[in-house]
Amino acid sequence: MKMPRRQFVAASAAAAATTPAIANARADFPWASKETYLNTATEHPLSRQTAASMQEYLNALVNGPDSARDKFENGQLMTKVKAMFAKLINAQPNEIGFTPSTQTGENIVLEGLNVMAGGNVVTNDLHYGGSLLNYRERRKQGLDVRIVEHKDYVMDFRDLERVVDRKTKLIAIAIVSNINGYVHEIRKIADLAHSHGAYVYVDAIQAAGAVPIDVKAMGIDFLACSAYKWLQGGRFGYLHVREDLQETALKGKLFGGRTTAKGASRYEISTVSHLGCVCQSEALAYIHSLGIDAVRAHVRPLTARLLKEMPALGYPSITPKGTESPIVSFAVKDQAATKAKLKKAKVVVTLGGYMRVSPSVFNNMADVERLLEALA
Ligand SMILES: Cc1ncc(COP(=O)(O)O)c(C=O)c1O
Repeated sequence: MKMPRRQFVAASAAAAATTPAIANARADFPWASKETYLNTATEHPLSRQTAASMQEYLNALVNGPDSARDKFENGQLMTKVKAMFAKLINAQPNEIGFTPSTQTGENIVLEGLNVMAGGNVVTNDLHYGGSLLNYRERRKQGLDVRIVEHKDYVMDFRDLERVVDRKTKLIAIAIVSNINGYVHEIRKIADLAHSHGAYVYVDAIQAAGAVPIDVKAMGIDFLACSAYKWLQGGRFGYLHVREDLQETALKGKLFGGRTTAKGASRYEISTVSHLGCVCQSEALAYIHSLGIDAVRAHVRPLTARLLKEMPALGYPSITPKGTESPIVSFAVKDQAATKAKLKKAKVVVTLGGYMRVSPSVFNNMADVERLLEALA
């Protein structure tokens, strides 16, 4: 299992040298030096820069309101953040609204499409557990919910085709599954939905900031995500609504101070979190400065090494080969022993029935090596 030292150093250098900015990223996330943090699929640490801008905003709120208020004068900062998020997913800024969280966004879509009035909704068991709970509750209230089951942790497209019909209103899928990082074929799914007169909603919380997203090329109608994972911080989120579906297919079902706002902002209802907006302003600028392709290039060798080495240590992969996301998961036989080994080595991953490892820009091959050594 163990890589010869020379080869390991070369691999670490290759991983770290993808771009000069990424080579410096580790220093921007001090958390990475305190423990081996390989758990961004749960939460991304804040960068120094992001924390500093939030601190500056908080100081202004404490010491005198003017400069804090100025930041939000005429909604300029919000407009800037929406434009940066729109650029990240190749949407138009007027297709982006803020939302407190992914699941709030998904509920806005379900209510706006009036799914409870009849028809069916199709999803799969690689979707987020909280969303599946939502669909099961709605099923109890009469909604026809069709949940496609995975085969070996991959959704077989033919299984989806079998349950979609003329009465389908929505296909709801996570672009990247939080369970094993599996990346769904969104374009194919969207084509299937559209050919049956249905829409497609994607949960992008494990995708935005981690993998390339192009809502136009992928045929996405609605998208929601929070910012505290791959968007590098903030209990704050986004809802994308395709321009021609705003208030046509997707009615606003909750009303408030933002109801008369233009574009997807009309789904916001209330004043949004200013602190979240400040946080995202810095974090999105940071992500754009690195570039998603560079982030992928940096993380790919780390996940490839894990997929190669973990099975030999007794942790078979439940992430399909060739998965293009920064999340890799493994079956765990002895949960307690594994937990103790990781705790002793100060290695943080998600452990809950299976092990999920999710490196980001601040990780390097030495982190992966520490995980492998801890489990050896
Ligand atoms: C795929 C997925 N969707 C949704 C959520 C929860 O998102 P939120 O807290 O933004 O509703 C998570 C959290 O882990 C997730 O992994």
